[in-house]
Amino acid sequence: MTLYDKVGGAPTFERLVHAFYEGVAADAELRALYPEEDLAPAERRLRMFLTQYFGGPTTYSQERGHPRLRMRHAPYPVTLDMRDRWMRHMLAALDTLDLPEAQAEQMRDYFLRAAHMLVNTPGATPPPPSLER
Ligand code: HEM
Repeated sequence: MTLYDKVGGAPTFERLVHAFYEGVAADAELRALYPEEDLAPAERRLRMFLTQYFGGPTTYSQERGHPRLRMRHAPYPVTLDMRDRWMRHMLAALDTLDLPEAQAEQMRDYFLRAAHMLVNTPGATPPPPSLER
């Protein structure tokens, strides 16, 4: 069974990504990086990607091709501050799911590593994101 199935499949990913984008919408500085006026298409892309990453349907790659996340984030300045804002909203969204700790832990671990990998502004080796909110 994939993690996608264990955590509850499509409805869980809908709730997670929707709660995440509510956080983004309320965060003016992070929101300013999102190019579209309507966040719904971005919400759909992230939902499809996470669904695929955690072992669900592969609609993301059928529609968008290889994820190449670093390349796709190149147009946006992912600073340490933006990374931390993104993480804060994702961790808060994850909390709303009330998953068993082992499952929540696996998802947090992925988000930490991925968000850190996407930092793309110059400077010294950045400190890792923290789990504090
Ligand atoms: C775990 C970390 C992250 C994952 C898995 C992720 C995933 C994604 C995905 C799948 C897309 C859509 C790509 C496409 O198909 O075109 C996207 C877009 C975007 N991401 Fe991220 N991202 C992460 C972290 C971040 C961070 C830290 C920022 C902070 C600035 C960020 C800002 C954006 C922006 C501005 C877009 C464009 C919105 C759009 O789709 O139109 N992301 N991200």
